Amino acid sequence: MTSRELRQKYLDFFIKKGHKVIPSAPLVPENDPTTLFTSSGMQPMVPYLLGQKHPEGTRLVNSQPCFRAQDIEDVGNNRHTTLFEMLGNWSLGDYFKKEQLPWIFEFLIKEVSIDPNKLYVSVFAGDEKYHLPKDTESVQIWKELFSQQNVGAKEVALDSLEYAAEVGMQGGRIFYYDQKKNWWSRTGSIEAMPTGEPGGPNSEMFYEFEEIKHDPKYGKYCHPNCDCGHFLEIGNSVFMEYKKIADGSLKKLPNKNVDFGGGLERLVAVSNKDADVFKIDLFWSIIEEIEKVTNKKYTDNRSSMQIITDHLKGATFLIINGVFPSNKLQGYILRRLLRRSAIKFYQLTGDLKFVEEITTICDRILEMYDWLFSINKNSLQTKEQLHQTIVEEMKKFGSSLVKGFKEIEKLSEVNGKNAFDLYQTYGFPIEVTEELLAEKGQKIDQEEFQVEFEKHKELSRTASTGMFKGGLVDQSEVAIKYHTATHLLHAALRQILGEHVTQKGSNITSERLRFDFSHPEKLTEEQSKQVENLVNQKIQENLTVTSEVMDKKEALKLGALGLFGAKYGDKVTVYTIGGNSHPERAERVEGFPFSIEICGGPHVKNTSQLGHLNITKEESAGSGVRRIYATLI
Ligand code: SER
Repeated sequence: MTSRELRQKYLDFFIKKGHKVIPSAPLVPENDPTTLFTSSGMQPMVPYLLGQKHPEGTRLVNSQPCFRAQDIEDVGNNRHTTLFEMLGNWSLGDYFKKEQLPWIFEFLIKEVSIDPNKLYVSVFAGDEKYHLPKDTESVQIWKELFSQQNVGAKEVALDSLEYAAEVGMQGGRIFYYDQKKNWWSRTGSIEAMPTGEPGGPNSEMFYEFEEIKHDPKYGKYCHPNCDCGHFLEIGNSVFMEYKKIADGSLKKLPNKNVDFGGGLERLVAVSNKDADVFKIDLFWSIIEEIEKVTNKKYTDNRSSMQIITDHLKGATFLIINGVFPSNKLQGYILRRLLRRSAIKFYQLTGDLKFVEEITTICDRILEMYDWLFSINKNSLQTKEQLHQTIVEEMKKFGSSLVKGFKEIEKLSEVNGKNAFDLYQTYGFPIEVTEELLAEKGQKIDQEEFQVEFEKHKELSRTASTGMFKGGLVDQSEVAIKYHTATHLLHAALRQILGEHVTQKGSNITSERLRFDFSHPEKLTEEQSKQVENLVNQKIQENLTVTSEVMDKKEALKLGALGLFGAKYGDKVTVYTIGGNSHPERAERVEGFPFSIEICGGPHVKNTSQLGHLNITKEESAGSGVRRIYATLI
């Protein structure tokens, strides 16, 4: 099966079960400073899981490209990738376990034609500390489903990973694991969840690849959550019904929600009965291109080619989503991807000729994802810009790469300091140095290395988990203010500069907003002041911010901004600042409401909450596009 076929089958299956297809979100979240990337399909759904009404209703489905920076180091085997597509379906207080589990089972065995004998599932074992019950309900549902297929379905309590590896599967098919494995939230464990974060027990599905034998390196016995590769996780139904509250305990959400996520690439691999995910169409055509460029065969160079394939694909997606190589945040992750793939290329060929041909590989990637890239036109870099960014970065790194390699060869003793120097002088990402040293049988002294690493603040800030440190909720409150300020800025720019101004991009951190818009020339100081003054005037006018769900057509008729080339559903949420009900809008007078935009929210209730806006910088962001940075004080 091709990935296009499987993706469509999934969407169609859930459409038949009453779901609406919603568009996928950008890979770099615009209004969420707590995270670097969209790393699961549920991320853009958080406000709705917490109780906000979704314009498309209570049953939703989509396919969401996801990027997981924390998995970079795992790439280099048959199943790990940083970039993947997550098939997702959601119930927002609508159906729950007894619909979700039978549906997903039906999808797997009927649509993907998986032999139910090869399927194994896990469920939540409960948690005493947090007063969470054992998920016996899911166990009963699974038992019934397997028995309908005449497949034995004994349940076995494995609880911890350590215990599981000690005792093995004991003929079971349904396994209880503790919260380390069968609790899902964006931050992992219940302890790590910040106040306000939703989470819940989950039930995962695994496919058994009999031809991949258990490797005792991973534990005495195999079990579904063993890392040896015998089992592959293919789907995760999260029963999102809790949220962390300020006293550290969990509270039930207003709704019982379902959040399902399944890796498209893994499902295609399973449907093709091949444990190597890189054999599916979405990777294989890239590998063929890499074989041509390097004149080497995949079968002899699997790990290197898996890394190049994944990293170039990830890099292409990030650039298309507006990321540029830099030393911080998303830009640094992009740089690591490009440098690590350059090093792998160099190891394969011993020269830098690949740089000349790398753009053909990127073009192959663009062709495969035409359906995705064509819907997001405005925020896209053009193909030429993509080529230029990749080639420039590869060229810049090329000469230090060769020198760095020589340096590593010379090193007889490796300590944390010289490993760190390799990063600073030659730009070798740490894990790459580690990998190259491991090939020579050497190890970095991690502790010593950490000391050096800590000194380099910018780098340590990039760890995406670190993004949560300031507290998700505190940061979100600030972000919400910036988000509303962005709408005011957009409207003010149009009033001062003219209606040709449209949003080209937006990015918010807890420190500032950044707004890109179409305008042919630099703003004069006076224009910039006028814009700033107008926004502040509107803040002082105490305007109310209201939202309403309506048909897209109606929203457009009202002059709502905000399509930005993206494909919204039929129903949209419209945020209005300074005007709140239909009659008022029907007799719109100039400048009233001040702003009306199609947008997912959330926003503050009244502009008076924003304080004072300061435009701190205005610069070019490409031809015909200007960029403004502003802070709220
Ligand atoms: N949010 C869950 C996951 O990422 C299921 O969609 O696995």
